[in-house]
Amino acid sequence: MQAKTPEQSKTIMTDMVLPGETNPLNNLFGGELLARMDRAASISARRHSRRIVVTASVNHVAFNRAVPLGSVVTVEAKVSRAFKTSMEIFIDVWVEDRESGAKTKANEAIYTFVAVDETGRPISVPEVTPETDLEKERYDAALRRKQLSLLLAGKIKPHEATELKALFE
Ligand SMILES: CC(C)(COP(=O)(O)OP(=O)(O)OC[C@H]1O[C@@H](n2cnc3c(N)ncnc32)[C@H](O)[C@@H]1OP(=O)(O)O)[C@@H](O)C(=O)NCCC(=O)NCCS
Repeated sequence: MQAKTPEQSKTIMTDMVLPGETNPLNNLFGGELLARMDRAASISARRHSRRIVVTASVNHVAFNRAVPLGSVVTVEAKVSRAFKTSMEIFIDVWVEDRESGAKTKANEAIYTFVAVDETGRPISVPEVTPETDLEKERYDAALRRKQLSLLLAGKIKPHEATELKALFE
């Protein structure tokens, strides 16, 4: 299977924040943003693997900046690293200034998707070849994040989390 670059799975979704999607402070409701990120990540994982993909885990979400009603929000997702059947998807969220058009980073998240066959069984995916400095940085840290996620989910034992242990040594 031929490796792919993160650029090949890049998925950009731009949409507005409408009244039914806000909290009582008139900012974008967190669950709505999670759904938008999940959709973009799902398309990105599908572009990388060309398979049916399912969300296995949401590893990290930071709601750093409130996103006001009426904002134009861009969600950008790319596969940062692929393992055997799973893919880490890095998502950056940008808000566009109405007057200048300048985009400011509002949030980010990291999701894990797994490629599956028609019966729902995990199936192998192509590797990722990172190109830019940021893609290389995200690629390098992805194994640590995978081990942390599996450890928290009780799917590996602490002694198996070698990349995490290395952080403290
Ligand atoms: C995700 C799913 C396919 C994993 O199946 P499984 O039987 O646990 O399969 P495995 O243990 O072989 O794991 C498959 C891959 O997922 C990874 N994985 C599983 N749980 C994970 C977690 N919590 N965090 C990170 N990676 C995880 C494994 O490390 C493995 O990766 P690799 O093959 O690249 O090394 C299965 O749990 C599933 O179908 N879940 C429901 C998915 C779904 O419906 N999502 C939508 C929610 S509404």
